[in-house]
Amino acid sequence: ADARRRAVELMEAYEALQFMDRQRDEFIQNITHDLRAPLTFIQGYTELMLEGALGEISDEQRDALTVIQERTEAVKRLVEDILQVKAVESLPLQQEPVSIEEIAYAAVRGARMAARQAGLDIVMEMKESRSQVLGDAARLGQVFENLLSNAIKYSPNGGVIRVRVESQNTHVVVSVADPGIGIPPEEIGRIWDRYYRAEGAKEKFSGVGLGLANVRRIIEAHGGRIWVQSDENGTIFTFELPRYIP
Ligand SMILES: Nc1ncnc2c1ncn2[C@@H]1O[C@H](COP(=O)(O)OP(=O)(O)OP(=O)(O)O)[C@@H](O)[C@H]1O
Ligand SMILES: [Mg+2]
Repeated sequence: ADARRRAVELMEAYEALQFMDRQRDEFIQNITHDLRAPLTFIQGYTELMLEGALGEISDEQRDALTVIQERTEAVKRLVEDILQVKAVESLPLQQEPVSIEEIAYAAVRGARMAARQAGLDIVMEMKESRSQVLGDAARLGQVFENLLSNAIKYSPNGGVIRVRVESQNTHVVVSVADPGIGIPPEEIGRIWDRYYRAEGAKEKFSGVGLGLANVRRIIEAHGGRIWVQSDENGTIFTFELPRYIP
C-alpha cells in the first residue's frame, strides 16, 4: 500500500511538472511574439535616421544609432531562436536529397564574420564530396548555425573552430570542434534539455538554452543521432545522418 501511495505521489508530481513546463512554454511564446512587432519599428526608424531621411545626423549620432541597430538585431535573433522551437516542434520535414557539404559551407560563410570578431578562424575539412542525405536543407542549416553559434559564443579566447564532414559507408558524419570553455562532466547530460544552461555559461554568455534541444530534435527527425565530448580544452559535437544513396 505504501509503494502504491508513493507511485501515485510520483505521478502527481510528474503531472504538475509537465503542467508547469507547458505554462512556461506558453508564457515564453506569448512574450516573444509580442516582442517582435516593436522590434521591427525600432529597426525601421533606426534605419531611416541612419539614411538621413529624418534630417542630417552627426558622427556621434551615427555611432549611437549603429549600436542601437546592432543590439536590436541581436534581440531579434534571440526572439527568433525562441520562436524556432514551435517550428521545430511542428515537423514534418522536407524530404529531398541535400548535400551536407553545401549546407555546411553556407553556414560557415554566414558565421565567419561573427567568428572573426571573436578572434576565431573556422577551418573546414571535407573528406569526400558525396555526402548526400535525404532531408530538409533549411532545418539542417539550423543545426550548423546553432552548433557554430555555440562554438563561437563559448570560445572567448579565440582560436580555431574545425568543421569536418566525412562520408562513411552508411552515414555522413559531421563534427564541430571548438577551443572553448568546455562543459563540466556533471552537467554534460543536461545540455540537451530545453532551457538548461551550464552554470559557468549562464553568468558570462547570453542565451536561452534552446539551441541544442532544437538541434537534437532536428537530427533525430532525420533518423540520426548526436553526441558531445568535452573537457577544459574545448568541445566537439558530432552527429551522423543516414547517407542517401540514389
Ligand atoms: N560549444 C560549447 N562549449 C561549451 N558549452 C556549450 C557549448 N555548446 C553548448 N554549451 C552549453 O550547453 C548549454 C545549452 O546550449 P544551447 O545552445 O541549447 O543554449 P544556449 O547557447 O545557452 O542558448 P541559445 O538558446 O541561445 O542557443 C549552454 O548554455 C552551454 O552551457
Ligand atoms: Mg546555443
